[in-house]
Amino acid sequence: MRYLTFALAKGRLAKTAMKMFEEIGIECQEMKDDKTRKLIFVNEELKLKFFLAKASDVPTYVEYGAADIGIVGKDTILEEDRKLYEVMDLGFGKCKMCVCGPESARELLQNHTMIRVASKYPKIAKDYFYNKKHQTVEIIKLNGSVELAPIVGLSEVIVDIVETGTTLKENGLGVLEEICPLSARMVVNQVSMKMEDERIRKIISDLKEQISN
Ligand code: PRP
Repeated sequence: MRYLTFALAKGRLAKTAMKMFEEIGIECQEMKDDKTRKLIFVNEELKLKFFLAKASDVPTYVEYGAADIGIVGKDTILEEDRKLYEVMDLGFGKCKMCVCGPESARELLQNHTMIRVASKYPKIAKDYFYNKKHQTVEIIKLNGSVELAPIVGLSEVIVDIVETGTTLKENGLGVLEEICPLSARMVVNQVSMKMEDERIRKIISDLKEQISN
């Protein structure tokens, strides 16, 4: 039996996913050691390998088959736009992709004014404004703390993830438009889905059953 390899977006997503896997009998003892500097973890008995990667790299590992299965947020899947199968909504890490800004920016959106949009997700932002709203905007790519942009005058609005809304509220901003719901997803390499059909289907059905209980 060949190894089935999982790439997990490191952080909260990976921790929650490993708990879900544990409940369906897939566990990896050596991954639980918080102090370890190891990058790849193996369960010899089940012939499974696990590695943690930066979220935006997970779809890349899966597209190229370096990982058979990936666990990553829908935001990253949309932004990276890789060739892979999205097979399951894991139902956690729920949040929304939104256009946010000060209340004063609402009319700029309504009037289709040429505005600047800052985001960590330029592809999602471009797709929304150009293909859905048919509004020409200038998109500025940022790498974090995107809420700063409208406060310091870099852009009129932002496209960002909203979970509790606390970050926006504490900075005098709000949701102006909702783009799409987000959550953690399981993605599968297109060749692996055929070659390892049985093992992968079993994991998906076990997870589905566990979620419904
Ligand atoms: C995300 C997102 C928002 C915040 C939303 O940032 O970009 O800033 O969480 O959460 P809230 O609605 O519960 O306040 P993250 O913590 O990933 O860091 P970042 O600023 O580097 O994007």
